[in-house]
Amino acid sequence: MIIALGSDHAGLPLKQALAAALEAGGHALLDLGTHSAESVDYPDYAQAVAARVASGEAGFGVLVCGTGIGMAIAANRHPAIRAAVLHSATEARLTRAHNDANIACFGARTTGVEVALDALAAFLATPFEGGRHARRVAKLGAPAA
Ligand code: RB5
Repeated sequence: MIIALGSDHAGLPLKQALAAALEAGGHALLDLGTHSAESVDYPDYAQAVAARVASGEAGFGVLVCGTGIGMAIAANRHPAIRAAVLHSATEARLTRAHNDANIACFGARTTGVEVALDALAAFLATPFEGGRHARRVAKLGAPAA
């Protein structure tokens, strides 16, 4: 299963740390940038990762910016995407189990590397519970009443 990664300039160091851990764990990665400290616009990278996850080319996505929030806002504009900003392994486990989240977002200015690594490991290890949660997740894609 391929994991697509993206970051802006603020998120680059944390993205690199997460990518190194994923590679060491044997995951196949698709790093869609950015690759330098030059200032870039986070929606471009959120869209690139969201498109790969929505198409099925990647099973999950990881997005990193300064807070993770801009990335999550941008990625969640895609109807097939459920992106969650993570600050803990507990949030990661529950958003996979209950929300079937398919993109993990992190803030390089708000979350330390070790916490992010633990959260990402929990995110990837936790299956969606289905059941009543499947009914609720289905409603996320429905137009507002
Ligand atoms: C870039 O300075 C910063 O605005 C961006 O990384 C992110 O935090 C936006 O949500």
